[in-house]
Amino acid sequence: MTYSLPTDVPVLDIDPFGEDFQRGPDLFYERLRDAGPVVFLERYRVWAMARFAEVHAALRDHESFSSAAGVGLTNFWKEEPWRPPSLLLEADPPEHTRVRRITTRAMSPRAIEGLRPEFERQAEDLVTTVVARAEFDGVTELAQAYPLRVFPDAVGVGPHGRENLLLYGDMVFNGFGPRNQLFEEAMAPGAPVRDWIAEQCRRASLAPGGLGAGMYAAVDRGEITEDEAGLLVRSLLSAGIDTTVHAIAWTLHMLATQPGQWAALRDDPTLARPAFEETLRYASPVQLFLRATTREVRVADTVIPAGEKVVCFLAAANRDPREYDDPDRFDIRRRTVSHLAFGSGIHACVGAAIARLEAEILLTALARHVRTLELAGPPRPRRNNVLKALARLPLRVRAA
Ligand code: HEM
Repeated sequence: MTYSLPTDVPVLDIDPFGEDFQRGPDLFYERLRDAGPVVFLERYRVWAMARFAEVHAALRDHESFSSAAGVGLTNFWKEEPWRPPSLLLEADPPEHTRVRRITTRAMSPRAIEGLRPEFERQAEDLVTTVVARAEFDGVTELAQAYPLRVFPDAVGVGPHGRENLLLYGDMVFNGFGPRNQLFEEAMAPGAPVRDWIAEQCRRASLAPGGLGAGMYAAVDRGEITEDEAGLLVRSLLSAGIDTTVHAIAWTLHMLATQPGQWAALRDDPTLARPAFEETLRYASPVQLFLRATTREVRVADTVIPAGEKVVCFLAAANRDPREYDDPDRFDIRRRTVSHLAFGSGIHACVGAAIARLEAEILLTALARHVRTLELAGPPRPRRNNVLKALARLPLRVRAA
């Protein structure tokens, strides 16, 4: 097939789903930002934005930048998605508005704050266990262990088979990329994992009083169907684990490699939330999401035609020197809340309050129980098509 490349925009041969990029995205992000407000990525024939202003504006303009064609590379308007689309993430108004309202109601600030006592108890238990061990893997023993305990409990998922949540998260986030090796490997566990997830999303599987049961309460009020409630629970299970796991893992990484920052948190545990927020800005666990243009859209001097996929590099926007002073400096006193790590606009993360609660409680417990926190060996990154992920984070702690 022959095709012509756009002429009024920088055309880059950068592969955001390739090994080089995933090993060290920062220099690529700089190139993408410096190339211009909009660029064209030749390899996948998609448009891309990496500066804060343009990414922010696109996320807030859902009428021009649709999510209904999927927020990964696959264009649902032309190709079959690997699973039925999400009613939230992969939908536009008015359909999105209806179910978003129900989700927001089920996850009200009161419902989330009600989780605090149990989240605190679990954090205390886990932190005292790892502190007693002195050396441990920050990824599996804290960053995974904690969300895998508290989040499925909050949704109302039973205790057995929770390792499937990690396998499913791998499918979801690698599934946003092209059909590369990461995609194929993540999908390999296949039907048993998808069936387990589908089973957990059924009304009968969910504990009463949990966030999942809250979705079914909307069925009883006549607002959605039973199938829709199941898909909303699926959204929580898809988006609620891996994101938080890697956000916590990167917070531990940053604190273990910057002793001054750790000391600041230890001496003032009220810095737990700002430390998490700064990590989200600095290390943005969700590196990118895509949109599709619903019409011709002008961005700066470029006109993007209708029906085109556009990569929004959240991680690059969060390090844009046009927006942040000294953006590559990690500083938990920065007190940034304007970052795009949770998105922005109508699709902004509906689970942000839970993720923040988990992180705040876990980091506060660490600050109380740990005197020194340092690496006990080299961290190992984990490749993923969309997430900035860690496979291992050997940590050594001394008790307070
Ligand atoms: C630190 C952890 C998290 C990060 C970095 C994160 C990131 C994001 C981002 C960037 C979006 C916007 C997607 C878009 O604009 O297309 C989003 C949406 C979403 N997140 Fe999160 N998330 C996190 C935790 C959670 C948790 C704990 C849950 C579940 C309770 C959750 C559920 C969702 C859902 C359902 C959406 C779709 C909302 C919609 O389209 O209206 N996320 N998240």
